[in-house]
Amino acid sequence: MDNLKDKVAVITGGNSGIGYATAKQLKEQGATVVITGRRKEAIEKAALELGVTAITADQSSVSDIESLASKVKEDFGQVDILFINAGITDKGTIEQATEALFDSIININFKGAYFTLSKFIPILKDGASVVFLSSNTANMSYAGTSIYSSGKTALNAVVKIAALELASKKIRVNSVSPGPTETEIMKKIGLNEEEVKTLMDAIVDNIPLKQMGKSEDVAKMVSYLSSDAAKFITGADFIMDGGMVLA
Ligand SMILES: NC(=O)c1ccc[n+]([C@@H]2O[C@H](COP(=O)([O-])OP(=O)(O)OC[C@H]3O[C@@H](n4cnc5c(N)ncnc54)[C@H](OP(=O)(O)O)[C@@H]3O)[C@@H](O)[C@H]2O)c1
Repeated sequence: MDNLKDKVAVITGGNSGIGYATAKQLKEQGATVVITGRRKEAIEKAALELGVTAITADQSSVSDIESLASKVKEDFGQVDILFINAGITDKGTIEQATEALFDSIININFKGAYFTLSKFIPILKDGASVVFLSSNTANMSYAGTSIYSSGKTALNAVVKIAALELASKKIRVNSVSPGPTETEIMKKIGLNEEEVKTLMDAIVDNIPLKQMGKSEDVAKMVSYLSSDAAKFITGADFIMDGGMVLA
């Protein structure tokens, strides 16, 4: 399959999980892929495994995003596919929240995602596809996820407005909202294997299809949204959570 041949794709946060799986998928379909990450070693290792290009950039830093856009322009010209995926999670009630926790989540998941779109607009090709990685939690009310869920809900508002602002250039902007998906994200908040398993078992109980999501399934959706088959789709959010929001 090479339906993304000659397309240049930029994926933020590509060294693990959904970003990594999407880089693999887009590359297999013929795209030239750039992945970003804040840890030089991790991103370069992933790029070597995938046969793609790595650029080190912290997506929470607007100056890093500007440098990233300049480097991509210099090396690849214009961008056909922008997958704004980099993100973190953390938990805690509103009462337990600290300014540091609020800033760490919002600076990456919302401010960083917003300015990634903003700074890449000048180098997006007419007809390009932008996909934001949101979350099914933006459509749910889970105690202990107020900062994370608010950031993703804010992103969903940006998707719709960006779809309108960029429609004259035939640039489409959509989001994918996975439910619980098997990636590294939970371990990164300090949970060990056993704690992750206990949490996942409890979560799976609340999913009508009784299984966790897979990064590869999200990657296929991003690939579809970035292809000509989705040329009439913009401003839409695709929930992929085994029916969890319905339960
Ligand atoms: N897994 C789920 O259940 C789930 C469900 C719904 C939505 N999501 C969303 O899916 C996206 C991808 O998460 P994932 O589950 O695939 O987790 P993951 O395996 O931890 O991948 C996240 C990626 O983002 C990168 N990243 C984090 N902060 C960054 C920063 N400041 N600058 C650049 N890169 C940064 C990570 O790099 P490091 O390795 O350096 O941290 C990693 O490459 C996130 O936006 C997340 O909110 C995940």
